[in-house]
Amino acid sequence: MSEIPSRRSGPFAALPAKALSGRLKAPGDKSVSHRALILGALARGETRITGLLESEDVLNTAKAMAALGAGVERTGPGAWTVLGTSGRFATPDAPLDFGNSGTGVRLVMGAVAGSGVAAEFVGDESLSSRPMRRVTDPLESMGALFETSDGRLPARLSPSKLRGIDYTPPVASAQVKSAVLLAGLSADGETCVHEPQITRDHTETMLAAFGAAIDVQRDGPASTIRLTGPQTLTACDVDVPGDPSSSAFAIVAALITPGSEVTLTGVMDNPARTGLIETLREMGAELTVEPGPDMAGERTMTITARTSALRGIEVPAERAPAMIDEYPILAVAAAFAEGTTFMPGLAELRAKESDRLEGTAELLRASGVDVETGEDSLTVHGAGLGGVKGGGRTVTHHDHRLAMSGLVLGLASREGASVDDVAMIATSYPDFFAHMAELGVQLEPA
Ligand code: S3P
Repeated sequence: MSEIPSRRSGPFAALPAKALSGRLKAPGDKSVSHRALILGALARGETRITGLLESEDVLNTAKAMAALGAGVERTGPGAWTVLGTSGRFATPDAPLDFGNSGTGVRLVMGAVAGSGVAAEFVGDESLSSRPMRRVTDPLESMGALFETSDGRLPARLSPSKLRGIDYTPPVASAQVKSAVLLAGLSADGETCVHEPQITRDHTETMLAAFGAAIDVQRDGPASTIRLTGPQTLTACDVDVPGDPSSSAFAIVAALITPGSEVTLTGVMDNPARTGLIETLREMGAELTVEPGPDMAGERTMTITARTSALRGIEVPAERAPAMIDEYPILAVAAAFAEGTTFMPGLAELRAKESDRLEGTAELLRASGVDVETGEDSLTVHGAGLGGVKGGGRTVTHHDHRLAMSGLVLGLASREGASVDDVAMIATSYPDFFAHMAELGVQLEPA
């Protein structure tokens, strides 16, 4: 059985690249991978998962599900089985450690809230500084007994009994929506979530595949989701589609490095995730998209990216939820465009693994790019293809997406660029180094 790639750490540099070429199978989607494990653990029967993303974040969720009593087993590369608990979690005998993962901890808080067990939730330094009230507030309105450290981790749950709620999240967040819906499975009565702006809908799609009675009504950009508890899910097989957010790094690397052509297969094609593709096209990117097979109820696509003369644009603020994790790499693409790219509506970037708005601006400035930040916006004045000096060192602030964005910027810059630590890349994209090598890119300890 092939092993999970070991974590690299320390500073790395990307040397200026000649041209990128090759064809990659997109790594498994992180959001779908977390959900497959959590729903499998809640369900009755055995769930078989293929193509699971074996990243540190997802592996922490797998461990948490095992600690809650599910039978979790790796049977091959990306192949896992989860013997579910029929909604009857066991009391874990140690704190559940979610490492760096906001998705893991927030979704599991919701899934466990009404199960009647006590649990403690902990994470690394970055996760322990992120806001948890966005999840504990609605769960407490449902009756959950949480104690947090002033709205942060560590958090403690005492055995609780839940009732359904009618809830409109104050921020556009799939994590908050998902936590409330998962809690709704064990709550008495109807749980209803209203979203003024649709966020990724994988929880709803997968709940239906696991046999949940769930009703989703769409009204333009808004949606209303209802389910009535208590309900027990039924195990099903999940073939995880490719991650559009991770695929973005190779796509942008090809667009900004002269002479490149890169193809990614099996990329999930869901309108709540493809904002970057739409944006890059508006910037003049040469992207060819062909439909692929459906996987886990999601459409997939094959994307080919060729070096392109990009131009700056204004990115609509309402598109942010459909590309929230892609702004650092979009900002890198914008640095190699002609003209100015204005990205408004980014307040949520400040609550990610780091303050990604400032981190992205610092990353670009370090390599000579002209950038401005506002409270919730980023403006990048592009230098055109071949116009970025480079030579900067990205401070990653424990943020995997800043690390990968800093390296991609280096490939296309005149002097290359480095990042202070690549360790966190393993939280979301453990095959990043192998994939870059396949495309002909040199990344070296620095
Ligand atoms: C995720 C939702 C997003 C995203 C994260 C994964 C999910 O967070 O940033 O990487 O799987 O639900 P928010 O929903 O908090 O914006």
